[in-house]
Parts: sequence; C-alpha cells; structure tokens
Amino acid sequence: MKGILLAGGTGTRLYPLTLATSKQLLPIYDKPMVYYPLSTLMLAGIRDIMIISTPQDLPQFQRLLGDGGQFGLRIEYRVQAAPNGIPQAFLIAEDWLAGSPCALALGDNLIFADRLSTMLQQAATQDQGATVFAYQVRDPERYGVVTFDANGKATEIIEKPASPTSSWAVVGLYFYDSRVLDFVRTLRPSARGELEITDLNRAYLEDGSLRVQQLCRGCAWLDAGMPSSLLEASQFVHTIQTRQGMLVGSPSEIAFRMGYITARQLEEHALRMGKTELGHILLSLARQQEL
Ligand code: TTP
Repeated sequence: MKGILLAGGTGTRLYPLTLATSKQLLPIYDKPMVYYPLSTLMLAGIRDIMIISTPQDLPQFQRLLGDGGQFGLRIEYRVQAAPNGIPQAFLIAEDWLAGSPCALALGDNLIFADRLSTMLQQAATQDQGATVFAYQVRDPERYGVVTFDANGKATEIIEKPASPTSSWAVVGLYFYDSRVLDFVRTLRPSARGELEITDLNRAYLEDGSLRVQQLCRGCAWLDAGMPSSLLEASQFVHTIQTRQGMLVGSPSEIAFRMGYITARQLEEHALRMGKTELGHILLSLARQQEL
C-alpha cells in the first residue's frame, strides 16, 4: 500500500501564523506538525509516500524530509495548485499510484492510541473496500459525522451537519482499495466548490464496502487547525514525553523500531538533534540497543 500525506490548504483559521509559512510545518511541541501524520503512515507499515502541498510550501517539505532515505522511506513530492478539496490528492497522484491501494493522511491530524500500529497495519492489509476511523467529539458539527445502527454498523455519513445525529467524527486518516480513483471520478464539487472526502467515503458506504472503526476512549485524536487545538496538541505531546519519557510522532524512532534503520543510524539522528529532549530520548534508545 502507498500513502499520501496531504499538506496543502490555506490554513485561514490560523492566520496570521500561516500567512508566511505552511500550517503543517508549525511546531507541535518539539517537532514540525508533518512528523505526526508521517509517523502514522509509517506505523501502518507504509514506506512509499507522496507529500502534496502548495507551490510555495512544497520546497520546505523537501528541505525537511528529503527523499525519505533517512527514515527508510521513499518520499515523492507533488504540488496542488489550488486547494480544490482533499480527494483531489488521488487525481494528482494517479500515475504514481498506478492502481495501488492507498492511505491518505491529513497533514494536520495527530492520532495517539494504544496498539495503534496493529490497528493501522490491519487496515493497510485489507485489499477490498475502505477503512476509516471515528472518534467521539464534543463538537461534531465541525467534521464529517458518521451514524451507527444498534449493531455498530455505519449507516450514514454527513459533512459538517448543522444538527448532528451522532457525536462520532471521521478522523483524517483513510485507507482505500485500488478502486479509489474510480470513485473519485464520480465526485462533483460541493457548494463550497471543493471535492469532499465525505462524499468519497459515502460512495464506499453506498457500495457496502466502508468499514468504520471506532477509536477507543483512551485514544487521542487532535486536529491542529486552530490556535486552541494547536496549543492542546503541543500540551498533549509535552505531557506524554516529559512524564513518560516516550516520544510521540518521531519518524526516527519508528524507522528504528520497524527495522528500517540501525541503532547506529538512530544514534546519528539523535546526535544531530543536539542537546534537545528529543535528542536525549533517541540517544538513550539507540544506546540501549547497542549494548
Ligand atoms: P482544512 O483544515 O479543512 O483546510 P485548511 O488547511 O485550508 O485550513 P482552514 O480551514 O483554516 O483554511 O484541511 C484539512 C487538511 O487537508 C489540512 O492538512 C490541509 C489539507 N488540504 C489540502 O492539502 N488541500 C485541500 O484542497 C484541502 C481542502 C485541504
């Protein structure tokens, strides 16, 4: 399976922070935001990744992540000329996908959960249909909302409903089979002039092949699109890292744990981070393994 990391958009809800820089390069505590969805794709076992961003921001992502080799990945880059909607990513990546199933991660979403990699790898190995995740929120009207029947089967999915019939929001991580482009081509722009990811998910729902997995109470899903949620995301990562000494959203650590890089390479990454907390944690991980 291949993975697309969508890191364009306009970030208007973060103005003036995003007037001169990409939202997905803003810090979440001690790392650039894009590290978190990149980590999510890596935990799913995906190594072929395309990063899509705006013409002005794409070079910065290239500077940050290069060809992905440092993390044992193969990263490609492509421009989205205008923010015409999330499913447009599949049209932009069509030749690169070459009929492969594909996951799509939104560049401003952070997911943290127990046994996350098992759950994601299960989703990534399904070769029929689509898998999305739902999370209970207090403000579902801001998101795509999914309704379930008494057996926990998804019955309806609506984008930003004025009166939500459920508190389950669809999170910004989607796994699709090789038919995704056939479905994308049936979509038409919504009233706001964009192709809508909720319409793509509804197409799979109507096809009878959408799995909606509910994320548990102890899981965290944060979308860092507003000043308050950006702060909350930073506070969340800070709490876990300083309290437990465990990293959230470190592609170096994941690359090491997945066996893509050696302890020696991890040590090099750690030393490059200097005297930072991130550097310390990576270094102790590398040295434990070298013993
Ligand atoms: P949004 O948060 O819906 O849009 P935005 O980032 O432009 O922000 P705002 O509403 O504050 O103006 O987008 C969700 C994610 O998808 C985000 O990471 C940006 C990305 N995105 C694109 O890359 N291209 C697009 O065409 C759209 C609609 C979103």
